Amino acid sequence: MTNAVVAQNLAKDFDGITAVKNISFEIKPGECFGILGPNGAGKSTTMKMIYGHVVPTKGDLFVLGLNARTDIKRIKSKIGVVPQEDGLDVDFNSLENLQIFASYYGVPRDIAKARAEHLLSEMKLSEQKFRHVEALSGGMKRRLAIARGMIHQPELLVLDEPTTGLDPQARLWIWNYFENLKAQKKTMILTTHYMEEAERLCDRVAMIDQGVMLDCASPAELVKKHIGAEVVEISSGSETSYWKSKLSTLKIDFQDHENKLFAFFPNVQARQSFIMQLQNIHYVTRLANLNDVFLKLAGYSMRGDA
Ligand SMILES: Nc1ncnc2c1ncn2[C@@H]1O[C@H](COP(=O)(O)OP(=O)(O)O)[C@@H](O)[C@H]1O
Ligand SMILES: [Mg+2]
Repeated sequence: MTNAVVAQNLAKDFDGITAVKNISFEIKPGECFGILGPNGAGKSTTMKMIYGHVVPTKGDLFVLGLNARTDIKRIKSKIGVVPQEDGLDVDFNSLENLQIFASYYGVPRDIAKARAEHLLSEMKLSEQKFRHVEALSGGMKRRLAIARGMIHQPELLVLDEPTTGLDPQARLWIWNYFENLKAQKKTMILTTHYMEEAERLCDRVAMIDQGVMLDCASPAELVKKHIGAEVVEISSGSETSYWKSKLSTLKIDFQDHENKLFAFFPNVQARQSFIMQLQNIHYVTRLANLNDVFLKLAGYSMRGDA
């Protein structure tokens, strides 16, 4: 089967600023693929190249088997896009927003109406259908933008930071919805700076920083490969250099970040035998996650940059 997306050495410069540097990845049909990185990493630029809003400076890009340089019109007709800024039309109500969009794609009016009603119901927006977009909450607007992206039944859903800025409850609702789409084998590419979002939804994740792809694999593989399994966070205060040299002597992998040491262990036993040596010092033990992978590969933490 043709890959949903193939990017080969894809790059984008804006007036001398390199937003995306030679990134390569492939997205398989039915996959939920994540691009994870902090603000300014190049996520939206990558997405915009996929949905034809930005022309690549270098490299090759194929979407649903079509060349993004020459066939962007056909690509646009086959993909559903939820941009980072919703871009809903504030002059119209929820139902009209969906119907207008459907008309751009040439969906016949009666089919568009039925689909819009169905999507509004799925998105728990039926009661809002005659409300103007301006009157909707942030979560409702985002759900409407997702519905709009699906009105022409696209083969690939492109979601740029679909839950950024939403409260936890609204975010959870959308995660649940995406999990249902995943169960239906809908092909999705989403960007996020939420480690939890990537971990929960994505089959594979491309971690990017400053336009560079740090690595690309499943969340579990990334954690296993770069961190192991367990982390001990040590608040070492004035004894940081002592603990750094101790960790080095013990050949324990670690990162130093904002007055904390993050020590990485392949398993619980290794972690336990280390913490036996920790006395009169504050520490926390926990499972390794994608934030640790980012910290190790980028040298700084994604938390706080979000
Ligand atoms: N149209 C543009 N013109 C100039 N610079 C841009 C433009 N769009 C993005 N950039 C720059 O490219 C880099 C990556 O931006 P972006 O892709 O929006 O990152 P992200 O979505 O990961 O936050 C940033 O430094 C940003 O300022
Ligand atoms: Mg962005």
